[in-house]
Amino acid sequence: MNKKLAKKDLNWAELGFQYLRTDFRYSCSFINGEWQPSTMLQDENLVVHEGAPALHYAQQCFEGMKAQTAEDGSILLFRPELNYERMNQAAARLLMPEIPALMFLDAIESTVQANYAWIPPYGTGASLYIRPMLIGVGENLGLQPARRYDFRVFVSPVGPYYSGAGLGVINLAVSNLDRAAPRGTGSFKIGANYAGGLMATRMAKDLGASEALYLDAAEGRFIDEAGSANIIISMKDGTLVSPASHAILPGITRRSLMTIAEVQLGLNTEQRPVELRTEFESFDEMGACGTAAVLSPVGQIWYDRAWHNVYKDGQTVGPVMQKLYDTLVGIQKGELEDTFGWLHEVSI
Ligand code: PLP
Ligand code: COI
Repeated sequence: MNKKLAKKDLNWAELGFQYLRTDFRYSCSFINGEWQPSTMLQDENLVVHEGAPALHYAQQCFEGMKAQTAEDGSILLFRPELNYERMNQAAARLLMPEIPALMFLDAIESTVQANYAWIPPYGTGASLYIRPMLIGVGENLGLQPARRYDFRVFVSPVGPYYSGAGLGVINLAVSNLDRAAPRGTGSFKIGANYAGGLMATRMAKDLGASEALYLDAAEGRFIDEAGSANIIISMKDGTLVSPASHAILPGITRRSLMTIAEVQLGLNTEQRPVELRTEFESFDEMGACGTAAVLSPVGQIWYDRAWHNVYKDGQTVGPVMQKLYDTLVGIQKGELEDTFGWLHEVSI
């Protein structure tokens, strides 16, 4: 049925990363220790009790994934099982119920199918962003987990996260605020981490950067990650390095890029602590990567009250980031062979 629906009349290529109301959203409640039958809603508003732990104590987690249209019209998800795993890790950390694997995948697929008309067509550069979320609802006042939960999935067609289509170069400003404590919740995708980062992002933007870059909270020496993306660095010796830290989000994009680098591009890869000030001169290229960010080369970093150029010779996009971007996006759009078995087709 959905296939026969015409696509919405949108200027797909001009989309930014914004919420655009689509027709349907999936909803399922957890009540009395059990998941109830799910529904597909048209109302984008949630009615939530004023005592909901999600509102007071940030008992909520979320995910971010994308559906893409391939050239033959098929609709592709990228490694959705990893979003499922990560969401349940966050749920467990915040004492929220586990979402069964089949329920998660069914929620994603049915929301994408129901909103077929909103999935950007092939070749527009846009994709359908999928936002699963799990929130603690119901009446509560003391600091304790909720007794009821809502799992919702909504979608929105999006363009690039940072302005500038495709492989746009961004700048990052090291924040003097911390995102996550060493044994805190930085490695879980929960809203609380992001609320604390709003001010850091504002301060970074005031400096002319796209986003904040966080160093480790214990010593302020090692690179953690950006506000909404992980970091990868191509060193002058040709190794692709990704900062090791217990406080960062285990990104699916980063993990995939490291695999592509090692297996397909034949690069040495390492996950290890990266000390910004002492190692900066050995950086050849740097990128910020994530579902929303895709892979954005980092041109300059602000730290110690000055801008520092990553690309010393005035170059904007280096060959390693270009190749990684082309390979990742090529796989995600079904243009390159899916040798790793990462794609999941949504039947329409
Ligand atoms: N780090 C943060 C703080 C993020 O918000 C994201 C985006 O989800 C990432 C890293 C990248 O994760 P992924 O590649 O799984 O989207
Ligand atoms: C994503 O990349 O999916 C994210 O969740 C980042 C978010 C801040 C937009």
